[in-house]
Amino acid sequence: MNTSLYAQRRAALAKTIGPGGIAILPTAPEQQRNRDSDFLFRHDSYFYYLTGFTEPKAWLVISGNGKSTLFCQPKDLEREIWDGYRLGPDAAPETLGVDAAFSVAELDKQLPALLDGAESVWYPFATHTGLESRIDGWLGPLRARVRYGTLCPQQQRDLCGPLDEMRLIKDAHEQDVMRRASDISAGAHVRTMQRCAAMLRAGQEVREYHLDAELLHEFRRHGSQYPAYGSIVAAGANACVLHYRADAGRVQNGELVLIDAGCELDGYASDITRTFPANGVFSGPQKTLYELVLASQEAAIAATKAGARFTDPHDATVKVLAQGMLDVGLLDKNTVGTLDDVIEKRAYFPFYMHRTGHWLGMDVHDCGAYTEPGEIGQVSERKDALTGETIKNRPARILRSGMVLTIEPGIYVRPAPGVPEPFHNIGIRIEDDAIVSDAGCELITRGVPVGVAEIEALMRS
Ligand code: GLY
Ligand code: MN
Ligand code: MN
Repeated sequence: MNTSLYAQRRAALAKTIGPGGIAILPTAPEQQRNRDSDFLFRHDSYFYYLTGFTEPKAWLVISGNGKSTLFCQPKDLEREIWDGYRLGPDAAPETLGVDAAFSVAELDKQLPALLDGAESVWYPFATHTGLESRIDGWLGPLRARVRYGTLCPQQQRDLCGPLDEMRLIKDAHEQDVMRRASDISAGAHVRTMQRCAAMLRAGQEVREYHLDAELLHEFRRHGSQYPAYGSIVAAGANACVLHYRADAGRVQNGELVLIDAGCELDGYASDITRTFPANGVFSGPQKTLYELVLASQEAAIAATKAGARFTDPHDATVKVLAQGMLDVGLLDKNTVGTLDDVIEKRAYFPFYMHRTGHWLGMDVHDCGAYTEPGEIGQVSERKDALTGETIKNRPARILRSGMVLTIEPGIYVRPAPGVPEPFHNIGIRIEDDAIVSDAGCELITRGVPVGVAEIEALMRS
């Protein structure tokens, strides 16, 4: 393990919280599934960012002087026979580069002493159930001894603030892992598209779960620990359900299949969506809408560069999609008016109801403020044209080199009066992951093709 990477992050955090601060951070809790079976454990992303440690029941404390203390499961031969290897506190300083380590059973004894003299306690707000009362439990004994000279911290601060800012800019190591995760996911999409067409050509029944199995096979075969989120494999009309999960739907000749799936590799997510014809050939209406979504994605990609606002790619997408909806007859200009009217009144919303992207990193919807920190005071209000709600607008985040975001426009056409029938039940999304650079952005997921001709050629082979 590259311990210096994590040590540098801990040092940077210590600098931010200052000499009077102390940061307390648990990893994720284990989640019982039923009786003595747990859900698969997945570490807390903030904790992993600062330690690289993936065992459960662990805590990190960083004091203002930069000293880091880990609390972890003690060595226990019997438990290790059942549950697996534990690093243990004796080996932790050498292996993880922390300054000191104790058994997690020592938390209640050590924490009051570590908190003594600190001015502010930093911990993630609203993230770990019961954490506040745990911290209160450590502050209590400290306060009880102020007559004997202990000093109780006077402030509590949200640790998510500084950590979110750090995680928002991906360093070279993170970008490298994310490129590798994207390559694996792209390969999984390629395999799945090809298998789908081949199975249909061979006259076999294809279900969504068959395609899900292909994705998982490819993820795991290349060392990914698990999918970064529940894979969406949606055949035909199921693609119009935004959070559909791979189920038992039958994949029919002539339909589109929408797959939104990405693996997690060494703590980092990838997030790719491709929509393809099950039999490998787009029909006319499918191609019309697909090329519209693709053109809107190209506009968003062109708008993704350092110095632009986070909302610029979305605005570019909406402009292209809205014009396209007027052109192909999804929207009737006699009813909805001009392009500007469509955008102003959000008349495109029945067919495009989500944002064009989100931060991507350790979490698929990664942390990081979407408003520009230096401009949060600049609040304007507007009435939403559809809901009538008053919405507070603050200036969107300015993109900087090293930020990673998805670019994922779509179109979803549910049957409704006035909606041209050839487009009914078509759901299309195209999603790529982009690293922002000064010159523009690097698309790290283009190992899977996106053009109509390229997809058709791939599925023939
Ligand atoms: N796969 C989740 C998303 O695209 O946001
Ligand atoms: Mn996404
Ligand atoms: Mn996605």
